[in-house]
Amino acid sequence: MNGLGDPAGLARRGRVRRRRQPYAASGSVLAVPLRPRKIRRHRRSVASRMAALSAQTLPPSDDSSDSRLEAAADGPGAGDVLAELNRIASSRRRAARLFEWLIAPMPPEHFYRRLWEREAVLVRRQDHAYYRGLFSTADLDSVLRHEDVQFGQHLDAARYVRGRRETLNPPGRALPAAAWSLYQAGCSLRLLCPQAFSHTVWQFLAVLQEQFGSMAGSNVYLTPPNSQGFAPHYDDIEAFVLQLEGRKLWRVYRPRDSSEELALTSSPNFSQEDLGEPVLQTVLEPGDLLYFPRGFIHQAECQDGSHSLHLTLSTYQRNTWGDFLEAVLPLAVQAAIEENVEFRRGLPRDFMDYMGAQHSDSKDPRRTAFMEKVRVLVARLGHFAPVDAVADQRAKDFIHDSLPPVLTDRERALSVHGLPIRWEAGKPVNVGAQLTTETEVHMLQDGIARLVGEGGHLFLYYTVENSRVYHLEEPKYLEIDPQQADAMELLLRSYPEFVRVGDLPCDSVEDQLSLATMLYDKGLLLTKAPLTVN
Ligand SMILES: [Fe+2]
Repeated sequence: MNGLGDPAGLARRGRVRRRRQPYAASGSVLAVPLRPRKIRRHRRSVASRMAALSAQTLPPSDDSSDSRLEAAADGPGAGDVLAELNRIASSRRRAARLFEWLIAPMPPEHFYRRLWEREAVLVRRQDHAYYRGLFSTADLDSVLRHEDVQFGQHLDAARYVRGRRETLNPPGRALPAAAWSLYQAGCSLRLLCPQAFSHTVWQFLAVLQEQFGSMAGSNVYLTPPNSQGFAPHYDDIEAFVLQLEGRKLWRVYRPRDSSEELALTSSPNFSQEDLGEPVLQTVLEPGDLLYFPRGFIHQAECQDGSHSLHLTLSTYQRNTWGDFLEAVLPLAVQAAIEENVEFRRGLPRDFMDYMGAQHSDSKDPRRTAFMEKVRVLVARLGHFAPVDAVADQRAKDFIHDSLPPVLTDRERALSVHGLPIRWEAGKPVNVGAQLTTETEVHMLQDGIARLVGEGGHLFLYYTVENSRVYHLEEPKYLEIDPQQADAMELLLRSYPEFVRVGDLPCDSVEDQLSLATMLYDKGLLLTKAPLTVN
């Protein structure tokens, strides 16, 4: 389930019918990470719920440090939490709140410290309404009817029969007649990039990408009863599986060797003979969450008379130390060669006499000296590593990868989108609202823009004009005058605190106003009070 980099339009979700209590206050949810070992219960009633657990987890291994069976209370449903986000002013806090809800009742700090990139985790909630309002089969039907969904580009029809995977995509648009006929014939339907078609999935991912600091993508999978859509495989992303409807049997396997651990590329399809014993085997029910790191092989099938609909949230594709160093080290070598004569001295004339594979067993002391010289020079590279510059380039790439922000009502009202200018009675009215030095402003959201120096110029890259389809748009940026760099940095750093335009560190009032106006007009700034026409 490769969730990243896939294209896709629009759907409105219904509201949840009932409002749940915040999970810290009441209710019960079972979280069953790998190899369950009960560590605590928040409520006595959890015991009986545990007895009813249909999850089968395999016997505990000797590594039980990360095994958990936790219980807590109901959290709000997807519709509730997305509505709640609209009332949280800070985008950072929105991102933290949504992730907290996603993995509730597990505390986020526990998840990141003990389980992230390490273990498969099952959160069993016994709350079929937990994801209501996020995405449904009815939404998929609506998307097929109303959006230009193309087979192969946006939707895959596939089945896995007798150990073989078949993709049965006809050419052209995935109209309901074709898609549902394939489903009826036993094909799973995979909607790539539902965020392009669904406003709620877009909001869900756009908020979470700020939590991860990495692109967040998704796929939706609809599987008919008694079928399996995809062969066993592992992916190159951290995967969160949200069971939206129906039931599905999942089997998850640890990486088979160290080379598959935290894999940077997805695997080919495996046969059943390639697999060992699953580390987690469970039937996901609506409201449940399954997480597994990249490199964990997985397969899933519908067993009974029920269909299954799940959404896979994916993130952290190629976001590793290795990827960072791949960018840093060539630049560090280049800088070292320019700045340090040691890197420009010639190699020993005779080094080929004792170095190379044919001499690898040699005890020649010149070989030892050569290796030591390499180690010393590599260690010195750290002094020349342009770490901040590479971090800026990765941040710039993340800005380009990002979904455009979903604005809260407040952000819409207080940004350029809320200006009362409009066409009325044959002419534009309410024209001319302007910022002044007394206007208080902050960035629209945290993480929507990044200041990057390139080729002696300063550019502000931003997400607000990105497409909901991955990289459909080129990177968007504004050039920032060096005289306004300090002011720009202050605005980026001070979020969510307001700054008076007249307090921006510029040489002149003109510079203050031109920077603030440029950002406001692009939809990058928010004012403390609505702008009015003088
Ligand atoms: Fe997958």
